[in-house]
Amino acid sequence: TQPLAVNAAGHLEIGGVDSLALAKQYQTPLVVYDVAKIREQIRRFKQVFEAAGVEYAVSFASKALSIKAIYQVMQAEGAHADVVSGGEIYTAQTAGFPMARVSFHGNNKSRAELEQALDAGVGMIVVDNFHEIELLKTLLTERNVMQKVMVRITPGITAHTNEYIQTGQVDSKFGFDLASGQADQAIQALLADSHFKVMGLHAHIGSQIFDVQGFAGVAQKLVEVAKHWQTKFDYVPTIVNVGGGFGIRYVSADHPQAPEQFVATIVSEIQKATQAANLPMPAIWIEPGRSLVGPAGFNLYTVGSRKEIPGYAPFVSVDGGMGDNIRPALYQAEYETVLAKAPQAPAEETVRIAGKYCESGDILSQHQALPKTVPGDVLAMLATGAYGFSMASNYNRNPRPAVVFAENGQSQLVVKRESYADLVQNDLDYRA
Ligand code: LLP
Repeated sequence: TQPLAVNAAGHLEIGGVDSLALAKQYQTPLVVYDVAKIREQIRRFKQVFEAAGVEYAVSFASKALSIKAIYQVMQAEGAHADVVSGGEIYTAQTAGFPMARVSFHGNNKSRAELEQALDAGVGMIVVDNFHEIELLKTLLTERNVMQKVMVRITPGITAHTNEYIQTGQVDSKFGFDLASGQADQAIQALLADSHFKVMGLHAHIGSQIFDVQGFAGVAQKLVEVAKHWQTKFDYVPTIVNVGGGFGIRYVSADHPQAPEQFVATIVSEIQKATQAANLPMPAIWIEPGRSLVGPAGFNLYTVGSRKEIPGYAPFVSVDGGMGDNIRPALYQAEYETVLAKAPQAPAEETVRIAGKYCESGDILSQHQALPKTVPGDVLAMLATGAYGFSMASNYNRNPRPAVVFAENGQSQLVVKRESYADLVQNDLDYRA
């Protein structure tokens, strides 16, 4: 169901490069990105804003993949980037990403991280709570500088995949609550201190959302809050940030709406609501993570052992697993996997793809139809590009895989495979 490129040899091709050649050159497990797909997704989001003639930013939620190379692609495509930790700020900075286009999120930014953000010249801080307002106020006063900020509110809307709830999720660790007046208190505190340049408001309603309705809801809610702030505090936001969460197709049962549809709904709802409220049209910011890098990622594994249990689907084990993609074990996430040497060959059996980690739950796929495989075959798991490598671990002291970017028939190593020496580099001997 995923559109696949197949070369003359009949092999899966990624970014114009033969997947078997990639597996051979860089070894497996390997994470490969089709870079053109990432660029295309960004353009699909942008195009609707451009056509509507509204001010906007597409800000990549880099928690989905925080490596130097991706910040460089995002920079080239004119995207902004969201970061959620000092480590992500550092990675973006070492990649040469323009700090003015970075937004810093988080419900518990430390003093050190806030100082780091100010030193780096991070463009926007998305203020989440009162503790942070106090910390920032102190730091900005000490430095006698001004900082652009946005206020994160809890919109009372939750969306997951194809459902959304209007009044749920007041109980969130993120942002300022509306009903209890916290959001009003926050904006008042920020407006009262000239070190803050208050740019607007932000909300994020969930991830892997299939339907535009939740975004229509959050767009209306944000404009409603903007109107309320205009009336009460004479403050008019210049940016409305509706967050990320645009869903992608992992398996054939997934039917997310297209990037264009999400943006079109967001733009038209904000236009309608601001007109009705007699507010100026704000700039619209979105924060896609998964939808920018997910579909472009492929995890390549080599088949090893096989276990047959009478009456059950066989286990086909591969050389990776929960250390390079914890999503199946953690969220029961599903993926589609193909045989790299013949991605369109008819299926001959349904197998369970097992990882190599010492844990029964380390099953990458519970039911995958495949041609018969033998040890040494390369499997390509599709759409692994978001929250796979970024959530990778060294469990069982397995080194994390290498990452390769492929584009226009060329491949480039962008993250080296970890070595055993890397694994122990921070370990110290204990001398009793
Ligand atoms: N903005 C904010 C404030 C967020 O918290 C998130 C994701 C995003 C944007 C990007 O959402 P996306 O477009 O990627 O759905 N580890 C989980 C996903 C966690 C998402 C957390 N926040 C997973 O693997 O499914």
